[in-house]
Formats: sequence, structure tokens, C-alpha cells
Amino acid sequence: MGLFTKDIKTMNDLFVHQLQDIYYAEQQLTKALPKMASKATDPQLKQGFLTHLEETKQHVSRLEEVFKMQGVAVKAVDCPAIDGIIEEADETVGEVADKAVLDAALINAAQAAEHYEIVRYGSLIAWAKRLGHNDCASVLAKTLEEEKATDKKLTTLAESKVNLRAAS
Ligand SMILES: [Fe+2]
Ligand SMILES: [Fe+2]
Repeated sequence: MGLFTKDIKTMNDLFVHQLQDIYYAEQQLTKALPKMASKATDPQLKQGFLTHLEETKQHVSRLEEVFKMQGVAVKAVDCPAIDGIIEEADETVGEVADKAVLDAALINAAQAAEHYEIVRYGSLIAWAKRLGHNDCASVLAKTLEEEKATDKKLTTLAESKVNLRAAS
């Protein structure tokens, strides 16, 4: 995507571009999640990260499937937003000394990533339907459900014990 060239001309171009963006984001998350799992102290949180890592690998494959359905090359474009979320998470985690507080920080960072994904998949699904790509929409919807479920599990974990422990 050049600064002075307008490569996105149609809604379909935008759809493909955002597919490439989230494809990059999912790939970065497959690298970030094992690190987050290794830093988590709470066993449920650790397991949660590992479970979502397996789901995230599926998200990568599903996107490859959608690229194929669209008849376009499987390609990733840099996504500065997810890089920023992961970078900020690394920095914060590096600055937290207390293990219980660290778990709370990890949940917060993970939810920032989930919310980013939820926004992107939400639009991709709406656009796919509008463009008549219902096959793509239903594949992307499976991923969106997993992102939402993960976000909910993180909230429950934070509110049921992690925040309590971190604040005591
Ligand atoms: Fe994902
Ligand atoms: Fe996710």
C-alpha cells in the first residue's frame, strides 16, 4: 500500500485488504500467545492462552480458505495496530514485578487483541454479506464466535479471581 497510490478502489478491494491485514495480525498472534502463556501464573489463564493459540492457528487456515474462495493470492500486509498492541503488552509485562498483577496485565493485553479482532471480523463479515460472498461470511463467522468467546472467558477469569488476587 503506497502513500501516494490509491490501491483500494472498490469495496471488494477494501475487503481483500482487510483480509490481508487480519491475516498478518493472526500470524503475529500465533507468535505472541505462547509467550503470554509462558508468562501467565494462573493455570487457567495459561491454559486459556494455549487453547486460544490452537484456535488462532485455525483462524490463519480459515483466512487462507477465504483467500482461495475469493480467487486471490494468500498475502499478509503489515498491520501497525496489532504490532502496537503486542509491543505495548511486552513493555507493560516487562514492567510488572508482582506475579498476580502480571496476570491482570496479561488479561488486559489479550483483551485488547481480541477486541481488535472482533472489530475487524465484524466488518469483514458485514462486507462479505453485502458483496454477496456468503460462503466467506460463514467461514469468518466461525472465527468471530471464537474471538468473542475468548474475550468473555478472559472477563470471567479477571472478575472471578485474577483482579481480586492482584489487588490484595
Ligand atoms: Fe484470531
Ligand atoms: Fe483471538
